[in-house]
Amino acid sequence: MDKFHTLLNNVNTEKARAYYVPFSINDKKSYNRNDSSLFYLLNGEWNVKGYDCFEDAENFLTDGFDKKIPVPSCVQYFGYDYFQYVNQKYPYALDFPHIPNLNPIYHFNRAFKLDFAPQNKVYFVTEGVDSCYYLYINNQFVGYTNISHKVTEFDITNYLVSGENTVDMLVVKWNATSYLEDQDKWRFTGIFRDVYLLTRSSRHITDYKIESNVDGIDGIVKFTNNSIDDITVKLNGETKIVKSSKNAEFIIKNAIFWSAENPYLYEVELASNDEVIYQKIGVNSSKVENGLYLFNGKPIKFRGVNRHDFHPEKGMAVSLEDIKNDLTVLKSLNVNAIRTSHYPSCPEFYNLCSELGFYIMSESDVESHGARFGAIDVSALEAKKKIADFYADSILERNVYNYENNKNFSCVVMWSFGNESGWGKGFELASKFFKEVDNRPTQYENIRLYSWDVLSNFHNDEHYKNALIDLDSMMYPSTTWIKEYYLKSDYKVRPLILCEYAHAMGNGPGGLTEYWDLFENNDNLCGGFVWEFCNHGVSYNGKTERYGGDFKEPVHDANFCMDGIVNSDRSLKPGSYEMKKVYQPLLFKREKDIITIFNKFYFINAIGKLKIVDNNKEYELSICIEPRSEIILPCSNNGTVYLEFIREGDDFVCAYEQFYDEKFIPTNKIVSDVRIDENSRYFNVFAGKSRYLIDKLSGIIKSVNVEGEELGSININTWRAPTDNDRRFRKPWEEYGLRHPSVEARSIQVDGNEILFDITLGTHSYIPYLKAKLKYSFYENGVSVAIDYTQQATIEKSNPDHNMCTTNGLFLYIPRVGFKMDLDKSFDTVKYLALGDTETYLDVCSYALKGEYQSKVNDQYYNYYKPQESGSHIGADYVELTNGKVNIRVEGMQSFSALPYTADELTDCMHFDELPEISTTELSVDYFVSGIGSNSCGQIPTINNRVPQSGKGEIFFIFTKN
Ligand code: GAL
Ligand code: MG
Repeated sequence: MDKFHTLLNNVNTEKARAYYVPFSINDKKSYNRNDSSLFYLLNGEWNVKGYDCFEDAENFLTDGFDKKIPVPSCVQYFGYDYFQYVNQKYPYALDFPHIPNLNPIYHFNRAFKLDFAPQNKVYFVTEGVDSCYYLYINNQFVGYTNISHKVTEFDITNYLVSGENTVDMLVVKWNATSYLEDQDKWRFTGIFRDVYLLTRSSRHITDYKIESNVDGIDGIVKFTNNSIDDITVKLNGETKIVKSSKNAEFIIKNAIFWSAENPYLYEVELASNDEVIYQKIGVNSSKVENGLYLFNGKPIKFRGVNRHDFHPEKGMAVSLEDIKNDLTVLKSLNVNAIRTSHYPSCPEFYNLCSELGFYIMSESDVESHGARFGAIDVSALEAKKKIADFYADSILERNVYNYENNKNFSCVVMWSFGNESGWGKGFELASKFFKEVDNRPTQYENIRLYSWDVLSNFHNDEHYKNALIDLDSMMYPSTTWIKEYYLKSDYKVRPLILCEYAHAMGNGPGGLTEYWDLFENNDNLCGGFVWEFCNHGVSYNGKTERYGGDFKEPVHDANFCMDGIVNSDRSLKPGSYEMKKVYQPLLFKREKDIITIFNKFYFINAIGKLKIVDNNKEYELSICIEPRSEIILPCSNNGTVYLEFIREGDDFVCAYEQFYDEKFIPTNKIVSDVRIDENSRYFNVFAGKSRYLIDKLSGIIKSVNVEGEELGSININTWRAPTDNDRRFRKPWEEYGLRHPSVEARSIQVDGNEILFDITLGTHSYIPYLKAKLKYSFYENGVSVAIDYTQQATIEKSNPDHNMCTTNGLFLYIPRVGFKMDLDKSFDTVKYLALGDTETYLDVCSYALKGEYQSKVNDQYYNYYKPQESGSHIGADYVELTNGKVNIRVEGMQSFSALPYTADELTDCMHFDELPEISTTELSVDYFVSGIGSNSCGQIPTINNRVPQSGKGEIFFIFTKN
């Protein structure tokens, strides 16, 4: 047995070609490949045996099997190997092209019966096998192939017998080109996409290209025959015979152009000998002109997400049904673009996207991120360059496959050379290749390493300027940087696309509206792709979802795989709604008694039902707004107006807006006689029917007693359970003592019904991080607490707002300033007037409606997989908690939360199913709460969304007893 997986090349594979499945001329016409009599699916139960290494598999043909497992699948779900989630690092030493000698190998086997005529050719096709395989038919070696995400084809005609045949595949975990597959993912192994045979006539179509263009109101479709025989092409009522190596143009008069908004497809039929290929194509154009990205001539925006193949119970072996479900979810979230991060998707994915309408950035299966850890004295660019040079041909080959397999899909509007692999020969070759073969624009973010210095300058680098790339691409630049630097610089050589932005890990992402304000107002910013579509939590053996490290894997990146804008099971989270709102196709504005509705679509009318609720008066209108135009509607001059729009043919609201306009009348503070007793340690305040015990050492209310009911303390609070997006601030926050500060009263003053304290908050060694004046004013019905604070400890670093996830260890702002009460869990019901029936923050609230809501405290916490801050509501006019006997009402705060867990419990817990039993209701009322940002990988909350360095406020606690 020759060893090929330590080499770089493929053996005996057919040339890369366009994806299609031929039909016999005797088959009925269909667009479902399963209806083709030439298509023979080999999915199903296969025998399998696992070995620790290639050497152990020497006698694999006679060794027998461990068991049967389904194909497509990932072997890790069937008891083999182990689950390992790694983001950037290589799971083995950086010693290319060498890979570990102990390199698991899986023998797959099945039989198939085939009746085929002697003049037939038979091809064995796989659409995805990680990482490579050796193919044997009837015990004879056929060939070897690497590149996990590609359509691979072997001609197996000469190995077959009529009747019963066997196929054996040896699938190896790593191969010498695995250095190019270091994507941020679970490191799965297996035949994870479809396997099938094609039985074809000996002369048949091999390859062809269909490209289209827009010419005024007409469409041009160019067909190129890359096969040996003539092809008869039928399109739009015209039939042309196209000779080998020739092309033909079809002019479609008054064409209906394809776009994600209107995915109109024309039917094409290709016939040659006794085969027919049925295909649907869209007519469109995608280009960069004069510094602008233009789709069908318009500077459209990519409202995108990055999508991996993932299913919690199947890993990357997702079915077509799973994919359809993903696309349905994405449509319902107003997404119009997908980057196939970081490898091509399976062919039928592209067919679905053409049909449903998504702009696709098709990315080649290339990522060598781990190289940057190779040596600490070498820059990421230098380290990656070595790989990009060494593997030049493999990188090119991967790009060739991406192109050849997917070139005829109308949804593909842009190519990507890969992800995070620096620059070098391989990319020079790839960029030249695309320019030679295709008109569609290209992007490749990592060329930026070559010549951009994000934080200060674009080097005016000739090499970069001249590179054969059409779009500038970045990941996670901050909005502040785009605004203050990028848009002001004259370096806008190419339009800018953000291949990744808004890191959706955990609570968040915050700041989407800030990005979109910039995108919508600058034509050379063409939008971006949220990182990423779904969480990757593995459910194995019926257990609840787990992430990196939970399988005791030696190298892992913990919960960095839980960074989806939807959960692993595709259920939505507040961040999903925020993205949906920001991506919505209508823009509503209100000026007094006029509402303007703008249709953001470029190509289609916004047609559908508009529901309007004007001061509780509800009515419905049918509307039709032309592309990029607006209509106006009258509404009341005052009061709240709510609008929602359902597109014709849809059953969900795609756009909505609330114009909240109600005056909140705060509760009267009832002045009455207040008695303040004191001893050397405490103040005992008797006001109304309540009694307050205040510690003179700290200035904190240690206990509130309402007519004999003890409620506990009202503690000053600056901590929140770090969100994933706070993770880089957690250390300084803990170091400065934010979590459990010692609160020190430095001066005390009593004045009528008021007690004033100067306090400091801090911990050992460091200067106190906060100084504040607290003023308690006692009333018949409650206590009001005014604060005037200044943050003391701030480490100034240059341009923290320009950074992308480089704020590690920076003590820039504090997460909240307010009070908390740890109440008995019998306070289980909450009522409030604020933004959102789900959580809202300053930079995650455009989706939320302000209103009066009531809920169980248990429902206030959104169960993130890694427990964290959740459940705050900004724009809070009041919150009320009750246990049926005592009522607590608070007013005057910016935000509140009422949670069944304490911030401490949430801080210390790693998995949602390990949270302790509910023992308390923690009420937090805050003068200020920081926004969320997306600093797990992206920007920190922008300055207006952070707790200010100094601030004032007044919160009124009202206590009553039933
Ligand atoms: C990016 C990378 C993605 C993902 C993300 C973090 O740098 O391209 O693949 O790793 O960071 O979640
Ligand atoms: Mg990476």
